[in-house]
Amino acid sequence: RVAQDLAGVRILVTAGGTREPLDPVRFLGNRSSGKQGVAVASRAVSRGAEVTLIAANLEVDVPEGINCVRVERATEMADACHARAAGTDVIVMAAAVADYRPAQQVPGKIKKSDAGESLTLELVQNPDILRELVTERNERGAQGEQCIVGFAAETEPDDAARLAIARAKIARKGCDFLVCNRVDEALGFGQDQNTVDVLDLRGEVRASASADKMSVADTILDVVVAQRANAR
Ligand code: C5P
Repeated sequence: RVAQDLAGVRILVTAGGTREPLDPVRFLGNRSSGKQGVAVASRAVSRGAEVTLIAANLEVDVPEGINCVRVERATEMADACHARAAGTDVIVMAAAVADYRPAQQVPGKIKKSDAGESLTLELVQNPDILRELVTERNERGAQGEQCIVGFAAETEPDDAARLAIARAKIARKGCDFLVCNRVDEALGFGQDQNTVDVLDLRGEVRASASADKMSVADTILDVVVAQRANAR
């Protein structure tokens, strides 16, 4: 029997990868499968939590017992998160959110130029949902009450360099923890295994794991449980 150490805890998890529409048939996307985020949601439910999953274009099924909200693009994910954040104890932002979206969504399918001309796309920045949620929490004075966990998928192969990037990122985002994993075409995305370091806001490594994504999810949730016990 699994310890119910998250009994009654309300957790919001984002998973998957956003798709930013270009025209009615095309989008800008990424290779996130949603496996790690769904694993976090799944383990959290097993440990007694009330879980809402904001799911963007998952390649995996969502297990029973999870309240699932489907979204497509970053702005929809932002709305879905903002609508629920205030009533939540823990937020885990595992989704790969597009940093940019096409400036215009063309109403009809973009036509190919017969003259062989190139096509230039203008992109504008999406909201940084994680940063916004941290700012909102701090403005509500709920620091220490709401634990916010971000993810950082980095392609830098050198461990020390990757950690340095992650330390700068958590300082910028202001979340409590940052789960840093290495990705490239062979690692991370779509795989069942993951290798992560969980950093705290001071840049210290709180936990590391190299295992299947369910075990990695438990490692992340262990850090959250310990933090919540400390805050009491
Ligand atoms: O800056 P970067 O995209 O690497 O940050 C990754 C973290 O920030 C993830 O937790 C991701 O879910 C979140 N994020 C976000 N909104 C964005 C971009 C990333 O919430 N527009």
